[in-house]
Amino acid sequence: MCGIIGFTGILDAKEVLTEGLSELEYRGYDSAGIAYVLGDRIKTVKTAGKVNCLKEKVQREAAGDQTSCGIGHTRWATHGGVSDLNSHPHTAGKVTLIHNGIIENYQELQAELEKKGKTPVSQTDTEIAAMVVDDGYDGDPVKAIKRAVKRLEGAYAFCIMFEEFPGRIYCIRNGSPLVATYTEKGAVIASDLVALIKYSKDYFVLPEHHIAELTPDGIRLFNLLDQEVEPKMLHVNWDTASARKGGYEYFMLKEIHEQPEALRRTITPRLKDGLPDFSADNIPDSIFEGLHKIVITACGTAMHAGLIGKNLIEKWIRIPVDVEIASEFRYKDPIVDEHTLVMTISQSGETADTLAALRLAKEKGARTLSIVNVKGSSIARESDYVLYTHAGPEIAVASTKAYMVQLAALYLFAMRFAFVLGKRTEEQTKAVVKSFLNAVGHVEKMLSSDEQAEEISERLVKTEDLFFIGRGLDYALSCEGSIKLKEVSYIHSEAYAAGELKHGTISLITDNVPVIALATQKDVYVKMISNVKEVRSRGAKVILITTEDALVDASLCDHVITIPEMEDIFAPFCAVVALQYIAYYAAVKRGLNVDQPRNLAKSVTVE
Ligand code: F6R
Repeated sequence: MCGIIGFTGILDAKEVLTEGLSELEYRGYDSAGIAYVLGDRIKTVKTAGKVNCLKEKVQREAAGDQTSCGIGHTRWATHGGVSDLNSHPHTAGKVTLIHNGIIENYQELQAELEKKGKTPVSQTDTEIAAMVVDDGYDGDPVKAIKRAVKRLEGAYAFCIMFEEFPGRIYCIRNGSPLVATYTEKGAVIASDLVALIKYSKDYFVLPEHHIAELTPDGIRLFNLLDQEVEPKMLHVNWDTASARKGGYEYFMLKEIHEQPEALRRTITPRLKDGLPDFSADNIPDSIFEGLHKIVITACGTAMHAGLIGKNLIEKWIRIPVDVEIASEFRYKDPIVDEHTLVMTISQSGETADTLAALRLAKEKGARTLSIVNVKGSSIARESDYVLYTHAGPEIAVASTKAYMVQLAALYLFAMRFAFVLGKRTEEQTKAVVKSFLNAVGHVEKMLSSDEQAEEISERLVKTEDLFFIGRGLDYALSCEGSIKLKEVSYIHSEAYAAGELKHGTISLITDNVPVIALATQKDVYVKMISNVKEVRSRGAKVILITTEDALVDASLCDHVITIPEMEDIFAPFCAVVALQYIAYYAAVKRGLNVDQPRNLAKSVTVE
């Protein structure tokens, strides 16, 4: 959450910062601000509202300012409401800083500072952090930062300017992400690659508890013992075009359409002679040796991918799998040991709760494997094994293509180890891979038939409550359909295991309440249809998602969306497209900003 950018070099810093903030806006859009060197002082322009409000303010108040060094921030509010005053950057004495994260002991620190007669003007934890850095500043920025780090508790990524060192930016992080690059135009640091990519495809992740010093001539990296450290360079293989809307009205729609390509990139390199193969990922076949169980832990949509993964792994490998919400797992003393494989799933690789869950799993001696989209992210770096998904940048807050490739990675994983562990022969595995490829091939077809979803969404414009029901894989998918609809359209919805609805919640089914019923699994199809009849007889408007070959009695539902015929186990790849479209069009038809739903941010780096 919160987008951070810093630049020092020979370009117009106001331009670099404001344009960078536009790219980073999906990380938070409550307020935005920049601070830059202007002669012998630091000038700050900040405002509540989106980056466009900041750009207008900069135009009004700073059009003639010449500067080539500054920092910029787009905020997702945590401590202190949304206001101009609480916007970043914050200045205390000679220090101006921006922050992503939460300073947990800020009240204690504030009390200490107030005893010294230093009072903050905002309600933010960030201003306290600026005051703490300034409090320990005696003319040496690095010493001041080191002193501050000893006092600050919580997660943070800071970019800091010191009035007496124009042209320099100091950065440090603990938990929250920062990536940096240097070109002959200058040094850039940001919380996300999307803001760096137009300067260079080569970058490094600022290691935790290291200080980066950016000057127009380069970036130097020090550990907290003042030893200079060589940055570990990484290369990104997508370009600026991938991070732009490319003619689509919203990133969410663009990303829905990118799914076939994302699937190809994730799957193709992991097939060898018709079998799933992880040798290039360095995941050894021995990973299952002595294993008693698997725990999948993640948040939100990534956790929903885990629910599908549980179904697959248990069915194909016959090993117990628990799926745990990371924010619960991390605080519950989980039963995890060296006989457990803990799998974390994360698009960003920076989600604070998932990262903490991973660290706890390691502490308890578990083997860890992560399924991550962002290269070099904290979760990827700290896991024993990584299965990268290759979705490319996902900008829309609502995750679509990242979920799709998380599924692909889980299917590949389950197929590989069902084979390795002798649950299936080579021939059988090859046949399953073939069916898998056939199923993912249908995603393209699903993308070109969005009319039904659009028409259904039209009818949902005035809906306040809706239910998703399904059994087995369809229940797992219902959870994903429900979160997608809620987050972008603000229609309240709940996902229910279809058989469970009658144990209380069916009392909410009255005339015209929409129920989206997923019935793609033949083994429970008849049971599902009984559940559909139960809600329909209580007045529900039923939208049925089923396969082309299913015999659907027209009196059973109000709308049907069909997915191509395929082996049931692969149905989620196509059914989820229908759910994504319903959520997308419902939001569009309600006139909402699909890419920036209220109160949300893309990468949840606070707990
Ligand atoms: C919903 C959504 C979120 C994320 C969750 C985890 O559309 O995007 O629920 O899935 O915040 O994020 P990552 O995958 O980055 O760990």
